[in-house]
Amino acid sequence: MSWDRNIVIKSKAELALMREAGRVNALALAAVREMIAPGVVTADLDAAAEEIIRKHGGIPVFKGYPGAYPYPASLCISINEELVHGFPSKRRLKEGDIVSVDCGTLLEGFVGDAAFTVGVGEISAEARRLIEVTEQALYEGIRWMRPGNRTGDVSAAIQRFVESHGYHVTREYTGHGVGRQMHEGPQVPNYGIPGRGIVLRPGMTIALEPMVLVGTPRTRVLPDQWTVVSADGSLTAHYEHSVAVTEGDPIILTLP
Ligand code: MF3
Ligand code: CO
Repeated sequence: MSWDRNIVIKSKAELALMREAGRVNALALAAVREMIAPGVVTADLDAAAEEIIRKHGGIPVFKGYPGAYPYPASLCISINEELVHGFPSKRRLKEGDIVSVDCGTLLEGFVGDAAFTVGVGEISAEARRLIEVTEQALYEGIRWMRPGNRTGDVSAAIQRFVESHGYHVTREYTGHGVGRQMHEGPQVPNYGIPGRGIVLRPGMTIALEPMVLVGTPRTRVLPDQWTVVSADGSLTAHYEHSVAVTEGDPIILTLP
């Protein structure tokens, strides 16, 4: 599948709307981050996020998203070896888990899409380092989001940073353009070759999302047909921001 024919340049006014969608999305994610603690039921995180999104006039855009069957929740909550697309459920978080929370908000016609990974209580040194490297990889990618650079420059920066720390990037899931639709062009993988790919232009809006695995780049999908796990059961992490390319510095749209 290629989304690259579906690249939409946003006007200043449209970027302002995207910033608003991103802001509400960030409020929901911040509230969830505050709630995360040992013993918390992940479905309660989902309910809290949905309430905040709706209170601000938004719609949780993941809910009903097409796949093997419509995505059933507002958040993706992916724990430990779960890389992305885990379901909120009756499961309780426990000390030492690392939990990735991904959230998307549709507000006034535009989508904000972002994710973070955080430890539950005390976590191992390895888990801490994995989370730090994944977050930093996102910012390494964002630094390259300037007009005239190419998607391959962004992808390669993420890959270089992650692999230099001995971790792996997924080959099967990618960052993506974001706008009126959650998934637009261009596709921005977490691996790539500098100088290749689509040329970035002001007004492009891209959800960059490093998905990082400790033991292998390989993944598999659980029988629920959504939850993606590392093939070897090793720890994983995920960070994401929706970001606008401008004439100057890139603008992170999904901040509070
Ligand atoms: N951030 C993810 C993505 O961009 C979340 C999608 S989950 C889905 O693909 F359920 F909506 F598919
Ligand atoms: Co995304």
